[in-house]
Amino acid sequence: MTSTSPQKPMIQAARGEKPSRWPVWFMRQAGRYLPEYRAVRADVDFVTMCKRPDLAAEVTWQPLRRYDLDASIIFSDILIPCIALGQELTFDKGHGPRLSAPIRSITDVKSLKSPDATRDLGYVGDAISLTKTKLKPEQTMIGFAGAPFTVASYMIEGQGSKEFTEVKKLIFCDRPVITALLEKISQLTVDYLLMQVKAGADAVMLFDTWAGQVSPGVYRDLIFPCTNKIISEVKRASGVPVIYFPGQGSDRMYELTGCAADVISVDWRTRLSRAAEILKGVGLNVTLQGNLDPQALLAPEAELRAMVRALKDEARQAARAHIFNVGHGLLPHTPPESLSIVIDELRK
Ligand code: CP3
Repeated sequence: MTSTSPQKPMIQAARGEKPSRWPVWFMRQAGRYLPEYRAVRADVDFVTMCKRPDLAAEVTWQPLRRYDLDASIIFSDILIPCIALGQELTFDKGHGPRLSAPIRSITDVKSLKSPDATRDLGYVGDAISLTKTKLKPEQTMIGFAGAPFTVASYMIEGQGSKEFTEVKKLIFCDRPVITALLEKISQLTVDYLLMQVKAGADAVMLFDTWAGQVSPGVYRDLIFPCTNKIISEVKRASGVPVIYFPGQGSDRMYELTGCAADVISVDWRTRLSRAAEILKGVGLNVTLQGNLDPQALLAPEAELRAMVRALKDEARQAARAHIFNVGHGLLPHTPPESLSIVIDELRK
């Protein structure tokens, strides 16, 4: 370890080395549970915040000012690239994201733009570069994108969904349409992630929140191959560790044979030990990330500490290395003090 290239515990863990301390960060660590986030957000809409590097960097720094974290994830959203593809993105209060002109036919896919990641999404790279100016050398800058299926789900439904009926109609009745859309998103995602690495991301994460919404066969044949192609290409071209999050997807881990990711982020529905067992069964010796239930942060201090200790014990035995995190994004009603308790208990 030299003073010019200090070791980053999160990167050490991601590569399967013994980290200099147990790394921790929280999915959605920048967000509405922080009063200082709500103060910035009071004056600007969400998409504008994502497009302005000064504001995106400011809210990315907010949790780092409060907590002793090992990583910062750039403030943005998995649906931002949909703007570059030609859809209009809005977030209505209480409704979540909406995308204009949902994609339902091959004509719709063909009418999407062919963006250039640097030209059309460069503001995300600018936010990363700016954020990095205030990170400590041992802190990891994480870039991210949505995995193609999760992004495609919003592009097809035009909003969040419970049943994913329009997505499933394409899967079962019009497969070439969704295949073409996944391909279109995948091409952009590789360039988008590489642009983020060029701007300063030390690791990247692919969020596949809805991976658990399809049957194992559909996941294996249609969804995993395009996702894994992105992971492989980004790794080959950049060398940075890649984290993959198959949301609601404990069962999806049975389908990850050949997955090129360095880290699998496990949701809170699966024990880490079980996740490790399943992954070993398909030939993967990876680092695990996760997986405290984000709602556990509501628990009284003693119980919360006990849950962190239990997770530490499990992680020590389960994986080659572990990155402490929640099993899904923090929720707006999370008490900010709970993060300090988790970090304190982890460092003991
Ligand atoms: O983790 C971080 O701090 C980085 C920023 C980040 C956001 N969204 C900020 C955000 C990341 C990594 C995401 C990913 C994302 N966005 C996912 C995948 C991860 C997951 O949570 O499953 C998904 C599915 C989305 C789509 C999305 N964005 C939804 C469904 C919503 C609405 C949620 C809600 O509760 O209203 C968003 C909005 C969003 N993205 C917010 C934040 C901080 C809240 C926006 C606000 O300020 O109103």
